[in-house]
Amino acid sequence: MQIFKQVHDLRQQVTAWKKAGHSVGFVPTMGNLHAGHLSLVKIAQQTCDKVVVSIFVNPMQFGPNEDFDSYPRTFELDQSKLSDLQTDAVFYPSVDAMYPNGIQQTKVQVPEKLTGLLEGESRPGHFDGVTTVVNKLFNMVQPDKAVFGQKDYQQLAVIKTMVEELAMPIEIISAPIGRDADGLALSSRNQYLTNKQRNIAPKLFVTLQDLAIAIQSGNLNFLELEQAATAQLLAAGFDSVDYVRVCNSKTLQEATPFEKERVILAVARLGKTRLLDNVLLNI
Ligand code: PAF
Repeated sequence: MQIFKQVHDLRQQVTAWKKAGHSVGFVPTMGNLHAGHLSLVKIAQQTCDKVVVSIFVNPMQFGPNEDFDSYPRTFELDQSKLSDLQTDAVFYPSVDAMYPNGIQQTKVQVPEKLTGLLEGESRPGHFDGVTTVVNKLFNMVQPDKAVFGQKDYQQLAVIKTMVEELAMPIEIISAPIGRDADGLALSSRNQYLTNKQRNIAPKLFVTLQDLAIAIQSGNLNFLELEQAATAQLLAAGFDSVDYVRVCNSKTLQEATPFEKERVILAVARLGKTRLLDNVLLNI
């Protein structure tokens, strides 16, 4: 497995692969890799000849009071997990290599109607940081396909929109959510949970599944269902609930009873940890 810290060296390798007729798959990450990330790498390997994984904790997508400084950085361990999977290359740039002019630079901005709601409401500017860095990474890696987890559902929708509207020649593959045996969606932030919080955490998925069953049984009073789910989460021991919302799965606007493509999105907090989850409804 090759490790590149400089864009120039990475580009040389990717150019050589492409000249040899290989397709290139890409999995962008912020490191601290768990089974969920590794499943994305496996999907990339199934559909492409060569796979590049990037590890970069992107300062531009963290707000001033968020966990950028304390975000777990575990490069040695990540490297050995990726090497066990026979990943072809890891791109591990420094902040200076990614942002030589500082992070106040040219931005890629997907319209507010998709980025200003849900996560965008509590994390202003977050998606501008994500789309800017993903765009840069795409320009650096020049992949044919890129794999993103469905766990960050809004991020996936925002990136698909960016790729479509900017006519980027990259296929976006969406990967199913990796879960622990008790249903908790895998996330690097799960390690912040105390034992007590970890026991409560799987109730988020249980609550979303209950809500999905109610909708599929014909209850289309979404507001009432969202309120009931919020109450269920608080009763289960969550400290607060940022949102539980039934949305159109493409536009992420609140769903209407007439639309058939739906996703339930939720964020609930245990102490300082925000847990995200979602359930896609196939009707
Ligand atoms: O989902 C993530 O880990 C990050 O938002 C991403 C896509 C790697 C961009 O920094």
